Amino acid sequence: MNSLLKKFTTVAAFLTAVTRHVQATPDFEWTKLEPSESLNWSPCYSGLECARFQVPLDYSTPDNGVAAIALVKYASTAPKSQYLGPILINPGGPGSSGVEVVLQVGSAFATILGAQFDLIGFDPRGVSYSTPQISNFRTDAERSLWSAASPPTELSLNASDTVIQDKWARAQLLGTLAKERDVTENLLLHVTTDNVARDMLRITEAFGFAKLQYWGFSYGTVLGATFATMFPDKVGRIILDGVMDADEWFAANLTSSMVDADKSLQTFFDGCAAAGPEACAFYAPTAADIAANLTALTNALKENPIPVITNVSYGIFDFSQLRTFIFVATYTPYQRFQPLAQGLAQLAAGDAGPLYAFLGDTPPFECPNTTAPAFHPNSVEANIAIMCGDGTPVTDSVSQIRNFYAQEARLTSFADSSVSRRVSCSGWKVHREGRFMGPVGAANTSFPLLVIGNTADPVTPLSHARRTASAFPGAVLLTQDSPGHTSQAAQSLCTIQHIGQYFQNGTLPEAGTLCPVDQELFPKPSASTAVRRSIQDSELLEAGRQIAEAVRPVLLRTMGAQ
Ligand SMILES: *[C@@H]1O[C@H](CO)[C@@H](O)[C@H](O)[C@H]1NC(C)=O
Ligand SMILES: *[C@@H]1O[C@H](CO)[C@@H](O)[C@H](O)[C@H]1NC(C)=O
Ligand SMILES: *[C@@H]1O[C@H](CO)[C@@H](O)[C@H](O)[C@H]1NC(C)=O
Ligand SMILES: *[C@@H]1O[C@H](CO)[C@@H](O)[C@H](O)[C@H]1NC(C)=O
Ligand SMILES: *[C@@H]1O[C@H](CO)[C@@H](O)[C@H](O)[C@H]1NC(C)=O
Ligand SMILES: *[C@@H]1O[C@H](CO)[C@@H](O)[C@H](O)[C@H]1NC(C)=O
Ligand SMILES: *[C@@H]1O[C@H](CO)[C@@H](O)[C@H](O)[C@H]1NC(C)=O
Repeated sequence: MNSLLKKFTTVAAFLTAVTRHVQATPDFEWTKLEPSESLNWSPCYSGLECARFQVPLDYSTPDNGVAAIALVKYASTAPKSQYLGPILINPGGPGSSGVEVVLQVGSAFATILGAQFDLIGFDPRGVSYSTPQISNFRTDAERSLWSAASPPTELSLNASDTVIQDKWARAQLLGTLAKERDVTENLLLHVTTDNVARDMLRITEAFGFAKLQYWGFSYGTVLGATFATMFPDKVGRIILDGVMDADEWFAANLTSSMVDADKSLQTFFDGCAAAGPEACAFYAPTAADIAANLTALTNALKENPIPVITNVSYGIFDFSQLRTFIFVATYTPYQRFQPLAQGLAQLAAGDAGPLYAFLGDTPPFECPNTTAPAFHPNSVEANIAIMCGDGTPVTDSVSQIRNFYAQEARLTSFADSSVSRRVSCSGWKVHREGRFMGPVGAANTSFPLLVIGNTADPVTPLSHARRTASAFPGAVLLTQDSPGHTSQAAQSLCTIQHIGQYFQNGTLPEAGTLCPVDQELFPKPSASTAVRRSIQDSELLEAGRQIAEAVRPVLLRTMGAQ
């Protein structure tokens, strides 16, 4: 290969790259690490280091129990003189594991942010490897039975006339169970976002730094904005990426959060019609035809759900599952729209298998053979506990939920998905007096925030990013011209370079910066159209793609689609 060719590569070549597989170091177990108020790092997963960091469960009564925060470090490889400290990462949810994200794609973060930083994944108190762990069930079998009766894929409130009252009743039951089973630790009172902000400050200080450096995605923006409000003089660098309106969050009323969801889906219809049948399997001549075909296909499933048997599992592919898949595809359209189109075409031809498998084809539950308590992922339980524990108590009746749904349906065709959050919280009973509940904002911060919003983000609209940026003096809003949830859902060199500069050099983009994306929604199968880029640019874009894969909605993870 000649040297010119070596220097250039195509984006297409990277698209087949496999996500790095991380293996635990032999004998490593989180439970063997002694929790400590200083950072005692041990080798854990292929080249990374782990620690358990001890914090008070209750900051107002520090003697009243402790929590151990699980941390993983993708260490700086720069010379000591260039070292710039830790950057903490929160992938959202709430309830998603920051540890897992850095385990999977720590190197991708390092590619974008630079080797001068330690990249820190942490599991917020109550989540995943942090202890004590939020858990409403006594055994994995009990948890599995609960979720079989109330599967997360049964998301659509529009699947039948009885979904709302069923979900409401189960939320009351779960809320009561959770409260009754929390008597020993009183954990649930203390898993709120304000305490996670306090933990982030402690972690930063344990590194010997006074100010936080942080990149928060989605719910991670509520956490970041809360931190900047509580500790405005402790802001080193904070990126809020895919911004949720924190005031709506604490009001337990995210009514306007989905106002751009239909815009994101519209890019599927427009992109498919423009791409043609070769690049989009669900092609029809106009965007309106494609939309109508999708509606017809979805509604037909309501009448005729399809039984599916795969090599791994079996189940029913129904209206709710298709609604769910369409919804999650709008989070990462550059990765999922083409497979969605493929799956829809197969569904239209009578084969629901591929779409069914996409939502998580995991083997049926088997009782473990040992009595030792196994580690269980708890993102769904943690999601409800943190979200509902943060918010103002919701005491809606079934008919109030129906009204809420009707109101939301005027704003978005995805109201059947979004109102589920309100239903879940209607049964929650644990709320700590005196917790932080907003409003977010500060008279000044010790460094300006960088706020990022996409033009068509299905769950965190640009208007929320704009409003949040205006609450923090000097904060700059960077707009990325793309559909998808958070900046990394679409690969944009412009965005990635601004993020790198912000952390490395403290340079903020100019006000009004609009970043284009370097990717197509429906790339043609022939590689001839692929753009030639420098190796460095291709690596940056590929790093972004890996981050988007790792930073997933809680829902997808739960369903096992890893
Ligand atoms: C939720 O917020 C919307 C918009 O601000 C408002 O119209 C609605 O009354 C609120 N609903 C509840 C139940 O608070
Ligand atoms: C999609 O729409 C086109 C144009 O209306 C129609 O000819 C075609 O049969 C539809 N395809 C499916 C799968 O519904
Ligand atoms: C519920 O689904 C039906 C089709 O079965 C559809 O016509 C209706 O618009 C949907 N309602 C909402 C609020 O999304
Ligand atoms: C299922 O198993 C059959 C027989 O072993 C194999 O031919 C087929 O490719 C498998 N299907 C999938 C989707 O893995
Ligand atoms: C339990 O033991 C049986 C027999 O040794 C084995 O086949 C099965 O896979 C085990 N199940 C689990 C969940 O480990
Ligand atoms: C805000 O804080 C920064 C850093 O401490 C300082 O440089 C700036 O002058 C302050 N701005 C205002 C309006 O107080
Ligand atoms: C670093 O920041 C300074 C001041 O904000 C700016 O003038 C300079 O161009 C930046 N350097 C790089 C490499 O971005």
